[in-house]
Amino acid sequence: MDESRQGESYALELKGDLELNKKFYIESYGCQMNFSDSEIIASILNGQGYGTTRNPEEADLIFLNTCSIREKAEQTVRKRLTEFKKSKLQKPGMLIGVLGCMAERLKTKLLEEEKLVDMVVGPDAYRTLPQLIEEAETGSKAVNVLLSREETYADISPVRLNSNGITAFVSIMRGCNNMCSFCVVPFTRGRERSRDDASILQECTELFKQGFREVTLLGQNVDSYYWVDPVTNHIVDFAMLLEKIALINPLLRVRFSTSHPKDITDKVLHTMKKYDNICKYIHLPLQSGSTRVLQLMNRTYTREWYKAKVNRIKEIMPDCAISADIIAGFCTEDEQDHQDTLEIMEHTAYEYSYMFIYSERPGTLAAKRYSDDVPTEIKKRRLAEIVSLQNRLSLESNQKDVGKTFQVLIEGNSKKSDNQWMGRNSQNKVIVFEKQNQFQQKPGDYVTVSVTGCTQGTLFATQLM
Ligand code: 5AD
Ligand code: SF4
Repeated sequence: MDESRQGESYALELKGDLELNKKFYIESYGCQMNFSDSEIIASILNGQGYGTTRNPEEADLIFLNTCSIREKAEQTVRKRLTEFKKSKLQKPGMLIGVLGCMAERLKTKLLEEEKLVDMVVGPDAYRTLPQLIEEAETGSKAVNVLLSREETYADISPVRLNSNGITAFVSIMRGCNNMCSFCVVPFTRGRERSRDDASILQECTELFKQGFREVTLLGQNVDSYYWVDPVTNHIVDFAMLLEKIALINPLLRVRFSTSHPKDITDKVLHTMKKYDNICKYIHLPLQSGSTRVLQLMNRTYTREWYKAKVNRIKEIMPDCAISADIIAGFCTEDEQDHQDTLEIMEHTAYEYSYMFIYSERPGTLAAKRYSDDVPTEIKKRRLAEIVSLQNRLSLESNQKDVGKTFQVLIEGNSKKSDNQWMGRNSQNKVIVFEKQNQFQQKPGDYVTVSVTGCTQGTLFATQLM
């Protein structure tokens, strides 16, 4: 979840846009999967003659693609809905739709509570958007929150929104069968299903032809990717899929997210090792370092098992970066449990972490079974300790890179200056370096740099070749 992208609005720059007489505006919240879904939604609406706008006031349709993962995410959307109420008053006939996880979780409650919502559409129902819009245009409330066992939108080619033209997300599976007790996702995104490998390969190949140089394969649990070809009966697992994509072209980098520690296999690790263009970076959510808490979370591993997995990754790929998701203050968590979390963080020396305070979600196993009994002040203090430890670990990891040489894929100008390039190394670290005229580089190029300095979030370097 990229905090800087929450609520981002999109506009695609299609040449034909001016001729389209209806426009939609979309804001996206939540995980990369949701941002990727917005690109599918844009493709479906575009097919119906809708152009995009970044200005909600000139839109005929306003969509919020929402997230339910924590209460705060839902509150932000509610606030936005009341703001859009004003636009709607000024422009009668404008339709407002809530899409995504919050639509799925709250269903018709959204229509009853928020009188300004005209459409409620769950993550598996985007194909029906054209009919739903028609229905809403007649003044009736349009709802489709049916979850599917098959839908992967495999045949819909997403329009790349807000793209840098170099890196793209490709969805390979949807839904989740892990019942982590804190998590709303199995309820909002339904059962796990994988997309056929041929359409994934085709999308990645096409992206490469268009000049993209990095694909991130997305799924709630990519390691349980599993596709059986209906004709040949051939099985494709995640390691095989990775290999097929890596073979498209050595200049196409492959990343993936998210892995469940219980599912990432040695076969995947060896495939990663075998191909230079499969990036040496694994997002391996920890959630808690305490075996007792992990059990309550239904994570199906112990602290020892997780540590052994980390050791295995580093044994096979000593240069592999690892990041985590960590939750502070889950039900019954005591000081010792918290210390156990800090200890695993030290052990792994995560390059990066996404850190959260536990937020009880209605309907989840934890909400039903356990009491959310860690006081807010304690949750906040533990989160602060986790964040501060992570800051130190990130800085230490970056300091170790000073003096090293890396291959970097240039993504564009650095945030601070048009005289500097910004790119990433295989480990997903952001590297910034001065442009040098003699090299005549452009985004999408691979260059070799030597790291000269760092902060906790960035490596600074000089280009060698
Ligand atoms: N409260 C806090 N964090 C949560 N996450 C999922 N559900 C909750 C919750 N109820 C975090 C987990 C997950 C990430 C996407 O969000 O760490 O891996
Ligand atoms: Fe939010 Fe999870 Fe839905 Fe992504 S899948 S939008 S993180 S609730």
